[in-house]
Amino acid sequence: MTLRAWAPGRVTLIGDHTDYTGGRALPMAIGLGIELLADRASDWIILGSEELAGVAELPLTIDDPSKVEPGWARYVAAVVRELRPTDGLTGTLHSNLPIGRGLSSSAALEVAVAAMLGANLRDPVAAAQLCRRAEHRAVGVLCGIMDQLAVIAAVEDHALRLDCHSLEMTPVPFPAGIEVVVVDSGQQRELESSPYETRRAECGLAESHIGPLRLATPNDAETIDDPLLRRRARHVTTENQRVDAFITALGAQDLRHAGELMAASHASLRDDYEVSTPQLDALVAHLRGTPGVYGARLTGAGFGGCVVALCAAGTLIDLPVVWRGRPGGGALLTEEPSLVD
Ligand code: GLA
Repeated sequence: MTLRAWAPGRVTLIGDHTDYTGGRALPMAIGLGIELLADRASDWIILGSEELAGVAELPLTIDDPSKVEPGWARYVAAVVRELRPTDGLTGTLHSNLPIGRGLSSSAALEVAVAAMLGANLRDPVAAAQLCRRAEHRAVGVLCGIMDQLAVIAAVEDHALRLDCHSLEMTPVPFPAGIEVVVVDSGQQRELESSPYETRRAECGLAESHIGPLRLATPNDAETIDDPLLRRRARHVTTENQRVDAFITALGAQDLRHAGELMAASHASLRDDYEVSTPQLDALVAHLRGTPGVYGARLTGAGFGGCVVALCAAGTLIDLPVVWRGRPGGGALLTEEPSLVD
């Protein structure tokens, strides 16, 4: 019997670089994703890909996924290493999600493979933690939990508020008459070769001055003597506040204010956290000047990748749009094979 696992990509509407200090984030699933069609068979994992070169050809017992080739198969191997399945798989991956563009393609791949190998998606926290451990093992990046939680637990027509300390997830209704637009900067980036780990370490140093950043206020951040650590802490503490202010603005249909908060978030990521690029800044500026757009910001880790804009439904966008629409649902495992269009 052929099974179909499907896992979406995500954008962060607001709340980036907050998850790994246990802060708050507001991601949503987009309508692009990764599909895996496979049969449980034999005692090997053999997965081809329509978009990526090479084949993931793996035994069921793997010790070090980080050495596996081709590179994308490391994520598959790391999930196998976590789940230690007793049966193999033969199948094909198909993705309409751009890879390495800040849309959580790696989390989507991990989740699709984990679902196919029997991870329980109805326990989203456990499944997300498993996939996050796999990401650590595959590429050595200590990412937060946002991407994996969003990919698994996203709710259609809602954004998902995450408390990345308690792991509480709260669906936030998405107002009528608006949509999200995703524009690609064309700048490829990989977390493992970016300053992501440096930022994480800087947060750790800031915490040695003022305690857990998730509990700290922007005023606490201003007491840090070191100017660089002060800026990093300022981003995290203000971004945590912006997440809840944005949710309040959405609830009040105050889209103008929601857009201002997105602008403030982008400025904070650019100036205090230093994860933007001139290309991302230019796209955000262009989108903010487009009639019908309420707000725009970089989304995900930054260092390249995509920007996200919130706009009135049907707004004319004169940039190459990767995806536009309303929030989609989370990952699925079904018995009905059907192709992603
Ligand atoms: C990447 C990581 C996430 C999160 C974002 C930034 O997507 O995988 O855990 O830290 O960057 O918000």
